[in-house]
Amino acid sequence: MGHRSIIEPFRIKCVEPIRMTTRVQRRNFLEEAAYNPFLLHADHVLIDLLTDSGTGAMSAEQWASIMRGDESYAGGRSYYRLLDVIQSIFGFRYVLPTHQGRAAERILFSSMCKPGDVVPNNTHFDTTRANIEETGAQAVDLPTAEGRLPAAIHPFKGNMDVDALETVIAQVGADRVPLVVLTVTNNSGGGQPVSMANIRAVRAVCNRHRIPLYIDACRFAENSWFIREREEGYAGKTPREVARELFSYADGCTMSAKKDGLVNIGGFLACNDEALVKRESRLLILTEGFPTYGGLAGRDLEAMATGLEEVLHEDYLHYRIASTAYLGDHLTRIGVPIVQPPGGHAIYIDAAAMLPQVPARLFPGQALVAELYLEGGIRAVEIGTVMFGSTDAQTGEETVAAMELVRLAIPRRVYTQSHIDYVCEVLSDVFARRDRIAGLRMVWQAPPLRHFTARFQPA
Ligand code: F0G
Repeated sequence: MGHRSIIEPFRIKCVEPIRMTTRVQRRNFLEEAAYNPFLLHADHVLIDLLTDSGTGAMSAEQWASIMRGDESYAGGRSYYRLLDVIQSIFGFRYVLPTHQGRAAERILFSSMCKPGDVVPNNTHFDTTRANIEETGAQAVDLPTAEGRLPAAIHPFKGNMDVDALETVIAQVGADRVPLVVLTVTNNSGGGQPVSMANIRAVRAVCNRHRIPLYIDACRFAENSWFIREREEGYAGKTPREVARELFSYADGCTMSAKKDGLVNIGGFLACNDEALVKRESRLLILTEGFPTYGGLAGRDLEAMATGLEEVLHEDYLHYRIASTAYLGDHLTRIGVPIVQPPGGHAIYIDAAAMLPQVPARLFPGQALVAELYLEGGIRAVEIGTVMFGSTDAQTGEETVAAMELVRLAIPRRVYTQSHIDYVCEVLSDVFARRDRIAGLRMVWQAPPLRHFTARFQPA
């Protein structure tokens, strides 16, 4: 059986048409969108790899869950089912549903952080960083040395640099580090996994300094699969057992269920600290909703509970990780420089390596995103200086990001192998004319999270 294709472990019951556009139309749409993929109409996109967040297909079982949702304002059955599922996978006592991950982040960080604090993470996602900075605290990224090198092959490039963590704590003092966060998988660092050994080592540092450890759990199932496949001692375990162990080292987690919850909207905040959850519930009630629904409908809670169970199925994870690797391996064969090895939810093209003629201040990643859309109607996203850099208001100097990446994120259970083959063909054509691709100038921006609305013109 080893030589046979790893197939999509589902058949398709409901389809949604996608439409091709002409190059002339795409040129106009791109100009109207000021070269920002977030400003395109989704109807004008053929293959949408902007994000894997909230873009997955639900299963028949999840749609059935939607009908079973209990819409009671308080104490709904769907909440208690979700609580059961989360307790059995994540092991945390208290669970606050939120409408998505960043709502959980806002509530967590505004409950735990104050001005002058420092929050270390392997790599903060953009909303995580923004929510920490909103409280006046500082968000610090501590990836390992190999995690910063796109071409380096390492099984756990998502790890945190444990020595750097010790150094930060020694410099600022443990009382100014209200929590440490580990993002699994490390999204901004290439969708790379964190090893169980690294999680244990970070936990040990946190224990020594009495600092709580939180997991940003968006892609916990994909990370658990990588641990099982790559880390000594885990081959015989189920993904659920791996996940259980992973969360046993943490004091709590934030979750965007739009990823490994297999739903289009939803998230939660979980922990074991009763006093903290009381403070968090106050904030939840202010802006999200009563603690047994937290800004979601009962049916959303029900679909999330079913999704969290399904995402740990072995045939699903096997297919999921293999299909991402399929795209990555194909691009590598063509010669396209990508972050190696392929991550869990996305392939990250190293735009700085592919377009060496475009300096970081002219946004090589954004320029490549524009070309992919023009060439084949594919929507990708820049993860580089547009997303993480900033412009000095006085001098106009650009602070550039450590890496200039373009992410091709794969929605869960949405595209088939022929869609992905098409993506490879388009990339191959863009790659062939890479020398002639020029940069873009940012002509308008609104920080924070400027990438959502920034406007560009060809340089
Ligand atoms: N943490 C990580 C690691 C994420 O990737 C995201 C979202 C969030 C937190 C926030 O969750 O969107 O539900 O509020 N990532 C999406 C992406 C948007 O495209 O990678 P959210």
